Amino acid sequence: MAATPETIARATSILRDGGLVAFPTETVYGLGADATDDAAVARIYEAKGRPRFNPLIAHVADRAAAERHAIFDDRARALAEAFWPGPLTLVLPKAPSCAISALALCGLETVALRCPAAPIARELLAAVGRPIAAPSANSSGRLSPTTAAHVADDLGDKIDVILDGGACSVGVESTIVDLSVTPAALLRPGAITRDDVATVIDIVDPESDANAPKAPGQLLSHYAPRTPLRLDAVSVGTDEALLAFGTNALTANVVRNLSPTGDLVEAAANLFAMLHELDTCGVGAIAVAPIPEHGLGTAINDRLKRAAASDEVGR
Ligand code: TXA
Ligand code: MG
Repeated sequence: MAATPETIARATSILRDGGLVAFPTETVYGLGADATDDAAVARIYEAKGRPRFNPLIAHVADRAAAERHAIFDDRARALAEAFWPGPLTLVLPKAPSCAISALALCGLETVALRCPAAPIARELLAAVGRPIAAPSANSSGRLSPTTAAHVADDLGDKIDVILDGGACSVGVESTIVDLSVTPAALLRPGAITRDDVATVIDIVDPESDANAPKAPGQLLSHYAPRTPLRLDAVSVGTDEALLAFGTNALTANVVRNLSPTGDLVEAAANLFAMLHELDTCGVGAIAVAPIPEHGLGTAINDRLKRAAASDEVGR
């Protein structure tokens, strides 16, 4: 249902009573439950079919709320100051006063916190007055949703309310920075780029450091369409659809262009919706044109690699 003051009030009481509410953030739609309620958090895992060892992000209204649940050092304060509210998740040591369900944390001594910028998410957080645990609102292993229709198609019968706030503006999941280690580690690329983070604190990339930690969820097959994906395509087969970027010579019967003008921000916003569309158009495979590896291109290529690799690791 459309997000209005009335439906947000209804979603608030459902969350306070332990129910599930899907809501838009600027990145993707989240599947929310009261993060302090074990039974409510268990419902998230149930609805998604999510492995119990993959912890959830807790969403908070502001830094003051975040500091009740996690220990902030100078780096955490500086990043929150620079990028919250926004598409950045911080992994921090949990505070003695942390009220977030151990199930949401999977028993870890760290907690992943994010203060989203999208107005509907902010209104909901302010009204509920508790942290909201929210993974992306898709079945485990499937594409993240960037519209309410994506959520309804995948999980509609398992959620109490879906708040419709239109398409998500960023379109790829938040950047995750692990601050429980020194130096800080980039666990997942997103709209806040590694370079953005590096203007504020020192950060390493786990890909380049075998000893650096990884997000548990990043080890799994993620973001997978049912149709096989072929990356860096320089040609398109007769049974293939094309996911294009910018202007190139490739053509196909079914084409979606992430950004005809070659704008990576626009491409990220279109990524999951176009993958959803091409996934349901009945082709044998999706050929993906090369995407530049800078700015948001890093996050786009990260999601595309996972989607393409999913066949090998199984679904
Ligand atoms: O943009 C987003 O972050 C969206 C919206 C809804 O906020 N949420 C999202 O959640 O993408 P999810 O569950 O799909 O991804 C959360 C990632 C997983 O890879 C998980 O393993 C990681 O965060 N994570 C959560 N807690 C962690 C922790 N304590 N340490 C390391 N990684 C953690
Ligand atoms: Mg997800």
